[in-house]
Amino acid sequence: MTERRETLTLTDNRTGTSYELPIDDGAIRATDLRQIQAADDDPGLLSYDPAFLNTASCRSAVTFIDGERGILRYRGYPIEELAERKTFLEVAYLLLYGELPDEAQLADWTFQITHHTFIHENIKQFIDGFHHDAHPMGILVGTVGALSTFYPDAKRIFDEESRRLQITRLIAKMPTLAGFAYRHAVGLFYAYPDNDLSYPGNFLNMMWKATELKYRPNPVLERALDALFILHADHEQNCSTSAMRAVGSAHADPYSALAAATAALYGPLHGGANEQVLRMLRKIGSKDSIPEYIEQVKAGKFLLMGFGHRVYKNYDPRAKLIKEVAEQVFEVTGRQPLLDIALELERIALEDEYFVSRKLYPNVDFYSGIIYLAMGFPVDMFPVLFAIGRTPGWLAQWEEGLLDPEQKITRPRQIYTGKPERHLEPAE
Ligand code: CMC
Repeated sequence: MTERRETLTLTDNRTGTSYELPIDDGAIRATDLRQIQAADDDPGLLSYDPAFLNTASCRSAVTFIDGERGILRYRGYPIEELAERKTFLEVAYLLLYGELPDEAQLADWTFQITHHTFIHENIKQFIDGFHHDAHPMGILVGTVGALSTFYPDAKRIFDEESRRLQITRLIAKMPTLAGFAYRHAVGLFYAYPDNDLSYPGNFLNMMWKATELKYRPNPVLERALDALFILHADHEQNCSTSAMRAVGSAHADPYSALAAATAALYGPLHGGANEQVLRMLRKIGSKDSIPEYIEQVKAGKFLLMGFGHRVYKNYDPRAKLIKEVAEQVFEVTGRQPLLDIALELERIALEDEYFVSRKLYPNVDFYSGIIYLAMGFPVDMFPVLFAIGRTPGWLAQWEEGLLDPEQKITRPRQIYTGKPERHLEPAE
């Protein structure tokens, strides 16, 4: 029997030369291809991978996904167990520190987050400067980036204590910025954080507090929101996390990097999809219109929003869990009529050859919007809710990238397709 070697042998048919490249963890190093040259002045072979379909950009110990089997784990724990039995703050701690907190650690972590929720009063002034119908995601991108000007100590990214402080501030202040963005849009006074409330309870307070002396969140909705934040907390090297890591790799402060990640999440193919799902369901309007809508999707006129995923090719485990959360929420809020359209749309799509052959299943965004709507959130707040949930994941990935000795500034290569060298006409 031939000995198994963890290598790849490549023969360059241009020169007839063979190369043996090591395989580590199921990957070859793209830089190992550089030795493959067709001539002495050849800079070496590149790998070409637009949109990174098959390129690992880092080693990461944070989140594991098996897209074929519909598995998602944070630091080894299945998402189902975390969503059912842990709070968002425990999960955030897990993502950042690698282990779940013990009782004392959780008490301290909760205290720290709770006592960093306030934002500088000046931030209210520039939120006031936004147009009354400004999209809250646009306000969030602007204000979270602006936080870096309030905390110049954030530039000390290789100082562990400073990093920890900025991480705490960001997780604590994202709901406050989000709540203020909403209150600005509807012309309401800003509702300040309430330190007696839980993380999701306080966010609901900043959204909905009116004239009552003390806002009391509905415990079912509070828990449902917490579970939704957990389901969104991390998703390995997705578009916004890659943006966070890329900007972080230039040693920008975490507020600036997180503003970039939030901007990426705003896109309708990413975290903006939950908003688009709602708009789509409203446009479809009734179950009778679904077949015609599906035909238009198949004709390539538009995408079925909330369907498909780069990694999940079986089902998105988050979508399954979200359906369960939806039932709990509807018991409090009453059933959303749009849910029936969504369920029927899903049923029809999952029987259709177009979606089956392309392995297109509902993703996390398909049902989350219906729950948010039932809870009273306006549609343009949906991606903002995603951003609050994703913040600990972005930060855990940012810190991991920063401390990884193999990482350098992100700088992909290109294949130049422009004009060859040419010259200006001689001067007259
Ligand atoms: N509706 C109709 N056709 C689709 C859809 C869709 N939602 N998604 C993919 N396809 C088709 C696509 O046209 C292509 O067909 P063909 O092979 O005939 O050209 C095939 O399926 C493969 O799609 P792809 O574009 O190569 O897949 P991708 O991995 O590049 O894109 C995606 C993944 C999520 C961006 C895409 O499925 C999509 O745009 N979905 C709708 C937006 C959405 O729901 N986004 C939320 C993603 S999950 C949460 C998050 O991470 O933010």
